[in-house]
Amino acid sequence: MAEIICVIGNKGGTGKTTLSHMLCHGLALLDRRAACVMTDELREPLRAEGRRYVVADARSPKAREQMMTKLRNLPGWIGVLDGGANRTDTDIALYELSNLVLLPFRDSAEDLRTVIQDLERFPRAHALPSQWPHNRWQLEAADRLIATMPAHLKSRVLPPVMAVSSSKLLLQTQLPDYFPTALNNSTRALAQMILGMTEHKEHFAYKAVAPSLPEPTKSAAPATPPYASTIRH
Ligand SMILES: Nc1ncnc2c1ncn2[C@@H]1O[C@H](COP(=O)(O)OP(=O)(O)OP(=O)(O)O)[C@@H](O)[C@H]1O
Ligand SMILES: [Mg+2]
Repeated sequence: MAEIICVIGNKGGTGKTTLSHMLCHGLALLDRRAACVMTDELREPLRAEGRRYVVADARSPKAREQMMTKLRNLPGWIGVLDGGANRTDTDIALYELSNLVLLPFRDSAEDLRTVIQDLERFPRAHALPSQWPHNRWQLEAADRLIATMPAHLKSRVLPPVMAVSSSKLLLQTQLPDYFPTALNNSTRALAQMILGMTEHKEHFAYKAVAPSLPEPTKSAAPATPPYASTIRH
């Protein structure tokens, strides 16, 4: 059965689609088979040509169900479900389908407010700082913002994915023949971090989803994983 990761969250423009493609690209660079599954009915699907991973259109609930059936029969694959903004019901559905849940957010007070709400709503989810600034002063301000989060949520914040301007290449319809090293390095680091989480499930809020098995007991998903300090990239 494939591992399912969803990238969701209520706020628009946090980097859900970019991160989904970055993760799939990085997984492919690490020789893992990945499928980027789009679920946002307000967007057009991207073409697969030139990508190292599969792209799938699962914008309707029926297509999503079919895609999940396919993925469940593909052991070793990783399916990344790209959510859409302002769709709480879909987010809940994707959350239930996924082993691992990522909530990207940017360095703004509004993003922080929204991700706090989402972390409370989705107790197994991890907040993923996205498009994090490189500039020293901006970085300090962004880190200060995270420091204001409620203590019980801070431990669910993952190390940041830094801003990489070439990440937009992955969302182009026509892809370049080669991707910049900075993009490859950054996507590989993201994929390594996520693979580390799936390989050390005992430390992370991870749901074991199996097609024919009953729901696992709650002890399968530790409530307060000590990951923020253990993963670096
Ligand atoms: N790591 C990154 N580095 C640089 N730019 C980024 C990064 N991640 C996202 N972006 C930029 O941020 C903007 C929003 O990203 P994206 O479309 O992925 O967000 P989204 O959450 O999928 O939006 P929506 O809610 O509309 O679906 C885009 O212009 C994208 O290029
Ligand atoms: Mg999107």
